[in-house]
Amino acid sequence: MHVLVLGGTTEARRLAELLAAALPEDVRVTSSLAGRVASLRLPPGEVRVGGFGGADGLAAWLRTHQVDALIDATHPFAGTISFNAAKAAAATHVPLLALRRPGWVPGRGDDWHPVGSLEEAARALPALGRRVFLTTGRMGLAAFAGLDALWFLMRSVDAPEPPYPARMEVLLDRGPFTAEGERELIRRHRLDVLVTKDSGGAATAPKLAAAREAGIPVVVVRRPPVPEGGAVADTPERALAWLRGADSGRTRAQPSG
Ligand SMILES: NC(=O)c1ccc[n+]([C@@H]2O[C@H](COP(=O)([O-])OP(=O)(O)OC[C@H]3O[C@@H](n4cnc5c(N)ncnc54)[C@H](OP(=O)(O)O)[C@@H]3O)[C@@H](O)[C@H]2O)c1
Repeated sequence: MHVLVLGGTTEARRLAELLAAALPEDVRVTSSLAGRVASLRLPPGEVRVGGFGGADGLAAWLRTHQVDALIDATHPFAGTISFNAAKAAAATHVPLLALRRPGWVPGRGDDWHPVGSLEEAARALPALGRRVFLTTGRMGLAAFAGLDALWFLMRSVDAPEPPYPARMEVLLDRGPFTAEGERELIRRHRLDVLVTKDSGGAATAPKLAAAREAGIPVVVVRRPPVPEGGAVADTPERALAWLRGADSGRTRAQPSG
């Protein structure tokens, strides 16, 4: 059995680890990364890097490499690849599972401002604060470039490229983050508003608790749409259980000798 995991997330790496430890030797796992970050965190098993060339390219890859199951474990904001995965799986009849971490939900004392895009987040900011903790990643910073009256602490894995806000300090870092560390950043830089995508997951959630404690508002960018229907798992462990089912179904379907 050959499993292709579309990755770039903590969950995808965790699934590759589970697969390496739990599945028999005749199961081959390939993780696919877009190659956006300079220092890749490689999962166990085989790894390929770079785009496929759209849904048709992905379908061709599935056929050429005789893939038996496809897992879309990409980030909730990676909308294009998820639709490509759904199209390619339908065209090749390869079983597809989407591994999607649940979104965050506001708790007691949270002051959340949901928005539909980075542009909408930028429009909301001047009414909410002056010193912004910007954690939406290095892509799409152009949306905030015109906000000259605001100061930004922008955190990302790799350095951003212009256009970006004129008054911005860049903090290169990668999760998981701690509540203590986030609290300290808010205090030291006197941050008075947080901007985040609704990425979900534990690794970057401590900023939300720190914002609540500090009593500062949070602009939350809602998730883009995902393909409708199809199998979905919310944890790597459940994805593994789905794969076991797919594998035993496949074994049963093979003609006996
Ligand atoms: N967007 C975020 O906020 C975010 C945050 C953390 C991690 N990531 C990870 O970074 C990667 C890129 O994100 P994005 O928002 O640029 O995605 P995207 O907009 O959905 O994808 C753009 C193109 O990048 C290629 N691609 C994306 N993920 C790939 C993968 N796992 N393997 C091979 N090719 C891939 C595909 O190129 P082709 O059409 O040529 O196949 C896709 O059409 C994703 O894998 C995602 O899991 C994204």
